Amino acid sequence: MSIPFKVIDWKNEKLVLLDQTLLPASEEYRAYDTVEELIVAIQLLVVRGAPALGVAGAYGVVIAMDQAKRESWSTDKFEGALDALRDARPTAVNLAWAVERVRQETGKGRDAVLDFAHKLTQEDEDSCTGMGNFGADWLIRELGEKPLTLLTHCNTGSLATTGTGTALGVIRELSARGLVKEVYADETRPLLQGSRLTAWELMKSGIPHRIQPDGAAAMAILSGRIDAALIGADRIAKNGDSANKIGSLSVALACQAAGIPFLVVAPESTVDRSIESGKDIHIEIRADEELTFFKGIQVAPIGTKTFNPAFDVTPARYISTVVTELKAYEIQKGETL
Ligand code: MRU
Repeated sequence: MSIPFKVIDWKNEKLVLLDQTLLPASEEYRAYDTVEELIVAIQLLVVRGAPALGVAGAYGVVIAMDQAKRESWSTDKFEGALDALRDARPTAVNLAWAVERVRQETGKGRDAVLDFAHKLTQEDEDSCTGMGNFGADWLIRELGEKPLTLLTHCNTGSLATTGTGTALGVIRELSARGLVKEVYADETRPLLQGSRLTAWELMKSGIPHRIQPDGAAAMAILSGRIDAALIGADRIAKNGDSANKIGSLSVALACQAAGIPFLVVAPESTVDRSIESGKDIHIEIRADEELTFFKGIQVAPIGTKTFNPAFDVTPARYISTVVTELKAYEIQKGETL
């Protein structure tokens, strides 16, 4: 399946990112060669989505090695820069996972580390193909081989990975098999990853879709419009509890009430087997201004307090299956990860 853009690239000894904050209005690429700038880009969501954050973090270690040489950093400064990169966003485990995995390679020299980052990128791309197939097969087994209307939340596609995507990868695979009637994409407040990014990807790929406010998801599901919902994940605990973009839990609850499948699709690198349950997942809380302002326009009284978690945790009991590149885990039958 060919993807008509490259979300992350390594060119002329720099990391090149498609700036996702500007989509869909403009498609611009930015090059990074300092860790400080990359950390800001990660925090502003220039690059986002757990697997893409992992890949960006892997190349970030190469950037840190080059910068350390250019600026004659001490070992402490270099290690501190990697710590800061690892911690730039706390919920998506892929970022920490990739930085730590690549950090272990730094003794082998810069070119070996760059090769390793390329290898992780390829692994990420390949894992999307695996998830796409396992997820599509699972849904066909569950619902039969017929065109489906699917709901998704946030963006889990080729902007969030270096391949076809996680949940959106499954949707792409079903579409390639002629089994997608329509996709309902939640707009995903407050930063609109659904309406800005998912709709952009679906439109480019010619997959029929519509966007809806997050608040419409439960109605769409309970009114019988939706056959199944699929989301990605930022961190999955051993028992299957899954952290994903804020609003995912509401979708899961509505699916439970309607008795339709709710799938979590993520690579094995998103599974954090060091934690037993979702209680141990650190949820990123973001700035008040993301809610009180919209693109620079004030939309709430100055001084209004906010509750702005970037993610929520869906308990495993509401998840039909967790699909990775290895298999579809049968969470409802008591399987753990
Ligand atoms: O804040 P974001 O845009 O990085 O949040 C992204 C999500 O919640 C995605 O659903 C998740 O990272 C999986 S991406 C394949």
